[in-house]
Amino acid sequence: MSTQLQRSEQETDESPQEQRLERKSLTEGEREAQRTEEESTGDETPRAHLKVFRYDPEVEAKREPRFDDFHVPAPQGTTVLDALMYARDEFDSTLTFRHSCRQAVCGSDALFINGSQRLGCQTQIQDLDQRPVRVEPLPHQEVEKDLVVDMEHFYDQMEAVEPYFQGETPDEEEQLQSRENREKVKMSTRCIWCGACQSSCNIAAGDNEYLGPAAINKAYRFAMDEREDDDIKQHRMNILEQEHGVWRCQTQFSCTEVCPKDIPLTEHIQEMKREAVKDNLKFW
Ligand code: SF4
Ligand code: FES
Repeated sequence: MSTQLQRSEQETDESPQEQRLERKSLTEGEREAQRTEEESTGDETPRAHLKVFRYDPEVEAKREPRFDDFHVPAPQGTTVLDALMYARDEFDSTLTFRHSCRQAVCGSDALFINGSQRLGCQTQIQDLDQRPVRVEPLPHQEVEKDLVVDMEHFYDQMEAVEPYFQGETPDEEEQLQSRENREKVKMSTRCIWCGACQSSCNIAAGDNEYLGPAAINKAYRFAMDEREDDDIKQHRMNILEQEHGVWRCQTQFSCTEVCPKDIPLTEHIQEMKREAVKDNLKFW
């Protein structure tokens, strides 16, 4: 475990890259001297202490999982992703995590932050009560390196519900959707495939074949869309009614609680259960 040095932003004409290179060339003693000097200048930039999970199966010395400490500047508005990027750029370039859009759109930076699934880019340090801020990879997924988990199984489950429109599209006719129907499926379309819900689900953790909340929500998105044919809807219901489908859900609401897009996942799963019951009713 290593404790990284704190650093203050200084007024300078050098570009951030030049400053970074200069700092990296300093010896440990010089860094300590610089830190003391910066602290004595009265810099009051708030700082955050991160405890970050580290693991690298390809490097013998790093095969044993551990936590590294990073102290980074955290002025108002700093997100956990910002803090991780700072730690990687300034202190340890081997620190590995996924990110892309930085605005809760791509879904690539779902992490386990202070014991809860959240997007790093959507979580501001100042909103977190617990210090140090503990950052771990998503639970119930295989860790590839540091904060990066293998998402393959999650994508397979999404794929299993055939998440796309199917059926005949009339050549010259627009397929119109009513305002009411659009409203009904609106929230379900917001999924960004981050995997936070799947990671939070106890059932998914114990049953690797359970479709999981994100996939069922995706099935809901199409099954409830009035533009899809009845026979395709029936096909989707058959997928959802199988042994590891909707009936596995025990209504624990953990998925709904962690979804960064506020999708009412449990409600959607319950609705698909009701559809499944209707689907199996027989009238003699
Ligand atoms: S349903 Fe929500 S938590 Fe689950 S993958 Fe989609 S956006 Fe992420
Ligand atoms: S970086 Fe894209 S969702 Fe956070």
